[in-house]
Amino acid sequence: MAVILDCDTGIDDALAILYAAGNGADLTACTVTHGNVPVEIGTRNTLTILDRLGLTHVPVHQGAARPIAQPLATAELVHGQDGLGDTGIAASTRAAAGTLAAAEIVRLARDRPGELTLVAVGPLTNVALALLLEPALPALLAGVVVMGGAVGVPGNASELGEANVWHDPEAAQLVIDAPWDVVFVGLEITMRTQLPAPAIERIAASADPRARLAWSLMQHYLDVYEPILGARTCVLHDPLAMALALDPDLATYRLVAASVELRGARTRGQLVGDLRGYDPAPADPRAPGVIRIVDTLDIPAFHAKFLAALGA
Ligand code: RIB
Ligand code: CA
Repeated sequence: MAVILDCDTGIDDALAILYAAGNGADLTACTVTHGNVPVEIGTRNTLTILDRLGLTHVPVHQGAARPIAQPLATAELVHGQDGLGDTGIAASTRAAAGTLAAAEIVRLARDRPGELTLVAVGPLTNVALALLLEPALPALLAGVVVMGGAVGVPGNASELGEANVWHDPEAAQLVIDAPWDVVFVGLEITMRTQLPAPAIERIAASADPRARLAWSLMQHYLDVYEPILGARTCVLHDPLAMALALDPDLATYRLVAASVELRGARTRGQLVGDLRGYDPAPADPRAPGVIRIVDTLDIPAFHAKFLAALGA
């Protein structure tokens, strides 16, 4: 499957790249947005991870430096000052490609209509800009999967806001209203993907270079998640979005009416999904204000694919 990855390369974005490379994805291009770290650092990190995996042919396009309608906020506490867990990994010397992210998403979609799947695992500013540049983008892509939202569960960036939606709520609303069958892989499912102890042990014990890279990246992430999860493990937000793009049958889904809270003093950035079930479920996945969320997930199968991608 040919994939455009839009990311804000932090630790789990890097793990999503590892997952993609190890599960047969054809990474056509990476586009980078502000988010976990400033976009310049996220761009450098994306180049670094790709080059460590020998994917020096995959172009990286720098994108939006801040959200549409609020100041830039970043998440070094979660991802480290360098966005890669402060491991001191040698940075790539490869330059980013010249075309800016949103324009490149549009160019690729126009050049390869119906072939490319967009996987967005950072704030949605680049994706929203691409939609504004090319309203026909939904018809030109084969699919779109977003890591974002927290439908019916607590947020992480705020009480109710999941980071990717919270970092740019207006962008997320534009994505929800576009005429595509968009899958939002939210905290309601990603927080259930914590790696069991045997999986952690397998990664720690593996001599595979991919596992060694993942293990070094994960240390800071394990530090962050240990007090949250009550065990030295972590969840796999961005790898799950990539996994469901590559293998949708790992999960079952439900359509829900959804919108982003843009005005609440305490709730701005919340993805509000209507889980009441009173009315018949939305029938048209491409209708504005309708998203597809995960209903059930084969978690062991996902973990097995993640470990296989690391050679662990
Ligand atoms: O809420 C988790 C998401 O926010 C992940 O994509 C993580 O990388 C951060 O961007
Ligand atoms: Ca991310």
